[in-house]
Amino acid sequence: MSEQQALLDELLDFLKRSPTPFHAVGNMLARLRARGFVILAEGDSWSLQPGGRYVVIRNDSSLLAFVLGSEDPAATGLHIAGAHTDSPCLKIKPNPELQRNGYLQLGVEVYGGALLNPWFDRDLSLAGRVTYTDGDGLLNSALIDFEQPIAIIPSLAIHLDRDVNSNRSINAQTQLPPVLMCAAPSDAPTFRALLLQQLHKQLGSAAPSAVLDYEISCYDTQAPSLVGVEQEFIAGARLDNLLSCFVGLCALLAADGQRSAMLVCTDHEEVGSASTSGAQGTLLQSVLRRIAGSYENYARMIDRSVFISCDNAHAIHPNFAERHDANHGPLLNRGPVIKINANQRYATNSDTAALFRQICQQVEAPVQSYVVRSDMACGSTIGPIVATEIGIKTVDVGVPQWAMHSIREVAGSRDCWYLWRVLTRFFQTATQALPQP
Ligand code: CO
Repeated sequence: MSEQQALLDELLDFLKRSPTPFHAVGNMLARLRARGFVILAEGDSWSLQPGGRYVVIRNDSSLLAFVLGSEDPAATGLHIAGAHTDSPCLKIKPNPELQRNGYLQLGVEVYGGALLNPWFDRDLSLAGRVTYTDGDGLLNSALIDFEQPIAIIPSLAIHLDRDVNSNRSINAQTQLPPVLMCAAPSDAPTFRALLLQQLHKQLGSAAPSAVLDYEISCYDTQAPSLVGVEQEFIAGARLDNLLSCFVGLCALLAADGQRSAMLVCTDHEEVGSASTSGAQGTLLQSVLRRIAGSYENYARMIDRSVFISCDNAHAIHPNFAERHDANHGPLLNRGPVIKINANQRYATNSDTAALFRQICQQVEAPVQSYVVRSDMACGSTIGPIVATEIGIKTVDVGVPQWAMHSIREVAGSRDCWYLWRVLTRFFQTATQALPQP
């Protein structure tokens, strides 16, 4: 099997096993530990060693892993890649049980800018984090995944909504609650009882006594797959942005350790990144300060560092090509995209874009550019937030994709390989440098 095919297979497996940011972080952590990365608890005192490999977790949903090079990072700077672990989805409300017409349904909150239409008629399951009291009355938490399809949001038949194909809007409060089971109000289980049952199944003897709280979301049980006559497309949920997390992880694992390299994958990007575990939180800055030691070293290190912010970009859609600027319509499988916005919705500048282009040239990866149409509003991502909070030189990039924020997104299978090559080079090379003042 080619290296490229192996990377794709591993990506599909990772996506399938990562229905929530918690699971994504758990899976990344397992790979890092298997490769000798040492877990650092933020509450412990650290003694970092040159050549060391470390990983820090916050809220079980954000992860920061780094390799310290043999030279002083204050003198060399760090090469950092970043991505986000979260994706738009439907989250279960705190008191979710709805009894309507003899069915048990769950009330859901829409997390992030989800495309709602594709959530109908899918075989849904539930996963996330549950916090419970254990046998000794102590608080504990565990990840949970029902794995089986246990819920569905059926469409309304066209006969009962004749205008649906020309005029449909979705009321998230009334029309989205998934159906779980047929149950008379008197015998319907509570949602917490269902969670407790699943926890018993997963934890066995370490069984909890009561579920206190949870962060559970719905996901599509259809596994991601390769699509297209030549299998040139990847179809699956959460490509934005677990694809970037996974490729970044593989690139960090391939780092030769000569230069200091870091991967930071944060939660809550889809809702603005302002949280303890989000890109606007203190995780990255706190770890960088601890690596540097003094503030003097920190400032020197940041000045010499570069951040590649990876988040998928909008590929031009052949059926809706007018939604792109004709000169800036990225194509699937034609390489990663540099995102540019004059109004700083992306943090790219000409120096950082040029550095990224140069690395692409060196690894023979094609590269594309994206700017939004001048008469449309531009999205944003973690790049400008990290650039603002840390003061680090940043380039915003990402592989192109269709159907962003759908329950089934589409990216190009070769782009994943190109991004891997670029990030691997970024983490390995000791000679890359931005123009000096
Ligand atoms: Co994204």
